[in-house]
Formats: sequence, C-alpha cells, structure tokens
Amino acid sequence: MKSQTITRKWYDETGERCLRFYKKSRDNEIIQLKDLLEKIPRKVRILDAGCGFGKPVAKFLSQKGYQVTGIDISSKLISQARKSTPKAKFKIMSMYDLKFPARTFNAIVSFFALLHLEKSKVQRIFKNFNKILKDRGYLLFSVNRGKKEGYFEFLGKKVFFSEFTKKEIEEILRRSGFRIIWRRDFFFKTPEGSKEHQLYYFVQKEKVRK
Ligand SMILES: C[S@@+](CC[C@H](N)C(=O)[O-])C[C@H]1O[C@@H](n2cnc3c(N)ncnc32)[C@H](O)[C@@H]1O
Repeated sequence: MKSQTITRKWYDETGERCLRFYKKSRDNEIIQLKDLLEKIPRKVRILDAGCGFGKPVAKFLSQKGYQVTGIDISSKLISQARKSTPKAKFKIMSMYDLKFPARTFNAIVSFFALLHLEKSKVQRIFKNFNKILKDRGYLLFSVNRGKKEGYFEFLGKKVFFSEFTKKEIEEILRRSGFRIIWRRDFFFKTPEGSKEHQLYYFVQKEKVRK
C-alpha cells in the first residue's frame, strides 16, 4: 500500500527527529495511562500498537512489570526500541495486518499511530483490536481532531496523515464493540507554533466482534 510505504520510509529516515519534536506531547501519554493502570493488575499483557522507538510508553510499562509487546512498521525504530527496553518484545508488524490470536491482550495502547492510517481501513483495525483483546479488555488511544486526509509535508518530507472528528471515532467505536469510558481533549502547541487538537479515548471491549 502506497501510503504505508511512504510512512514507513518517512519514519525510518525522520522518526527520531519527529519523536523528539513531540517530546512534550509524549510526556502526556504517560499521564493518560494512569486510569488504565489502575484497572489492570501488574504482569498482564499489553500491546503498544505503533510503538515508535519504545520510549516513553513501552519502556515505562515494561519497568512497571507488564508483559509488553510493541509493534511498528519502522524497522529502524523497532531496533532502537529493542535496545532501550530489552524486557519487552518488539515486532515489525503493521496494524493493517495484525498477527495475534484472539483474546491475547488485556489492554492495547496506541498513541498517535492510527493517524497514519487510511480512514476507510480504520474500522477494520478497531474490529481486529476488539478480537485480539481479552473479554472486557481496555483500549487507550489518541488521534488528532480534524477532517484532513492525505499526504502532507512535515519536517521537510511528505507523509500520510488522517484526522478524525469525534463523530467518526465514536461511530467506529460503537460498530467495533467498544464502550467509551472517557474522552479527553488537549491543545498541543508544536515547537513550530502550530496548534493540534488531540483526542484521547479510553474504551472497553463490551461486545465480541468477528
Ligand atoms: C507519531 S509516531 C508515535 C509513536 C509512539 N506511539 C509515541 O507516541 O511515541 C507514529 C508511529 O506509528 C507508526 N506507524 C505508522 N503506520 C503504522 C502501521 N500501519 N502499523 C504500525 N505502526 C505504524 C510509525 O512508524 C511511528 O512509529
């Protein structure tokens, strides 16, 4: 798929720079994990979908004692993640093509990674998230709010981005068998001065979707 090939190349070449650019926003990911961690016991299995170089999220969860699996399409970021968080498992794998048995994970986290997917395919990915979660499992994820979809120049090169409205996300969640526990809005000012409206959702699997 063209959008994925371009995104993979972009992250192999620009990933570290991008993740540094968003350092402040990524610090907030750790804060938003709090409610999830209060609901699940230590040592259970968590998937970090689109984990980047594994910091801060996979590393933080692994240090807390969870069994963390991180997946990402960028082989460069995955090899850095393996070095920084040796106790977690990392695989080069796409969210378009999740290869885990049904009911594998107690929770899935996915921060700012679904925003690189083609919107028409996102519903199927949420259904697959539902399938690989254990019953009553949790999903915590973030995207950017808006209506754009396509190739946009960022840090000097084009990459594929999708933004979502609340209505779109909430319809996808309903159809995929998730109930919303909370939604939070954040307004992030990038180091370049542009503003992003970030949406975080904490949801729970309530129906099994095939
Ligand atoms: C903005 S970064 C976020 C990384 C990390 N979740 C964080 O918040 O620090 C987006 C990540 O999603 C990954 N990604 C993009 N498309 C993907 C796909 N189809 N499957 C898995 N990962 C993907 C990218 O390689 C990149 O590491």
